[in-house]
Amino acid sequence: SPVKVQKIVCIGAGYVGGPTCAVIAQKCPEIIVTIVDLNEARINAWNDEQYRLPIYEPGLVEVVRSCRGKNLFFSTDVDKGIQEADLIFVSVNTPTKKSGVGAGFAADLNYVELATRRIAAVATSNKIVVEKSTVPCRTAESMRTILEANAKPNCRFDILSNPEFLAEGTAIKDLHNPDRVLIGSLQTPEGLAACQSLSDVYAHWVSRDQILTVGLWSSELSKLAANAMLAQRISSINALSAICEATGANIDEVANAVGYDSRIGPKFLKASVGFGGSCFQKDILNLVYLSESLHLPEVAAYWRQVVEMNEHQKSRFAKRVVDSLFNTITNKRITVLGFAFKADTGDTRESAAISLIRDFLKEKANVNLYDPQVEEHQIWQDLAEASPNLSLETIKKQVNICSSSLEACKDAEAIVIATEWKEFKEIDWETVYQGMNKPAFVFDGRLLVDEDKLTKIGFKVVTIGRGSL
Ligand code: UDX
Ligand code: UDX
Ligand code: ADP
Repeated sequence: SPVKVQKIVCIGAGYVGGPTCAVIAQKCPEIIVTIVDLNEARINAWNDEQYRLPIYEPGLVEVVRSCRGKNLFFSTDVDKGIQEADLIFVSVNTPTKKSGVGAGFAADLNYVELATRRIAAVATSNKIVVEKSTVPCRTAESMRTILEANAKPNCRFDILSNPEFLAEGTAIKDLHNPDRVLIGSLQTPEGLAACQSLSDVYAHWVSRDQILTVGLWSSELSKLAANAMLAQRISSINALSAICEATGANIDEVANAVGYDSRIGPKFLKASVGFGGSCFQKDILNLVYLSESLHLPEVAAYWRQVVEMNEHQKSRFAKRVVDSLFNTITNKRITVLGFAFKADTGDTRESAAISLIRDFLKEKANVNLYDPQVEEHQIWQDLAEASPNLSLETIKKQVNICSSSLEACKDAEAIVIATEWKEFKEIDWETVYQGMNKPAFVFDGRLLVDEDKLTKIGFKVVTIGRGSL
């Protein structure tokens, strides 16, 4: 029969584990939730007295404030966390492998395996182990094998898959009000009982009919499928944006008309300079790798094209900037507004801005950069990784990190909007225009600004998915 969960530990205090388990603590006051991580600096930040948390997410501070020290704890003592808990979320990072078999495609499961082995090594009582990190299909099976091979007598492990669908920037909203919660388990009596225990946790605030229970592998594949299909929608609309630019059609009008079809729906059809984030590319490449290992090359090629279209969109936009500036940006000052992969996050993983700036540096442009949330050391790290042939010293000579939009736009030839931060909508464009070299260009990679208004001021505006000037 199902265990009533009293203590939860989450291994991994990152973008997924942190917000997810903080909300569980908030919604389940009788459950003690401990979030553990090997990274001491990260744990210290979660425990910061002034609530300067390690990740920026609207509404997160309020959640942590309401339960930290009551039933929510952050600690580096991974072993103690494991020993005390009856339910363990594994929420560690699963980056794309950088070397070895499947390099560039397959997920690096080293962190998952290490965490799993740690659970097996230190657990002295029964545990429900929940795979929360996005992982390739059948990882739960590997976790089960490791746990069972290393378990102490009288110590049983039940494995669940419970992928997280939150999007960054809206994590708290998504967690409070999820479209669905998905739980995969073995269809054995023990597996179903474990599934019931976890369902009961979510049922504190999610209605039962939105808690979907399926087999382990369906659950794992559903997460990859959902992200692949979301990314595919963006690549589809971005592919159409290229046709719009060449024909005089307008991508906003096309997306609106298409989205009215109830079978398609209006959401997630915003053309952009390209999708970023830690999930889309990684999960599609996982799917590609999986398809290839299953000897399904046509299926692999189909999904791979979604990523290729995204790369094309980024380089196409950079090229359009150069072309519009009379085919050269050498020694010209280009302002890039936004460095995060989307608004309302400080996360830069796979951000389109990184590729754009890399391309501008190749053309020997000077770049002024401003982002309201991304930290400076992160910017240098990302730019250095993207241009391994340039020294950090050279990069720092060419790139200037600014502390406001106004400062960043001063004396520039062109402004490139890479992230859809709301504050970029409210820029004082008259003042910006006065301070720029003429002709003053704005390249809108996010369909953010009012083109007519800016054109009236005197700007030359170039927008994704609209024909040029
Ligand atoms: C995504 C999924 O949405 C989420 O369900 C999953 O759990 C993790 O991956 P996330 O990457 O945090 O979440 O953000 P998302 O809002 O999906 O945006 C991803 C990228 O697509 C961003 O770069 C965003 O700017 C871009 N995007 C999104 C578009 O270019 N156009 C759109 O219409 C929507
Ligand atoms: C389609 C469009 O739906 C319609 O809006 C347009 O005006 C003309 O083209 P139609 O071809 O008549 O209409 O039928 P539709 O219901 O769209 O089905 C097309 C094909 O897709 C059929 O072979 C159908 O069996 C198949 N299909 C549809 C699937 O295999 N799976 C689905 O989920 C939906
Ligand atoms: P995600 O976006 O999936 O949440 P992050 O990289 O933000 O990924 O967070 C994953 C966290 O997991 C990191 O803070 C990392 O230090 C932590 N981690 C990785 N392996 C272990 C482990 N074996 N034990 C504890 N924490 C771990």
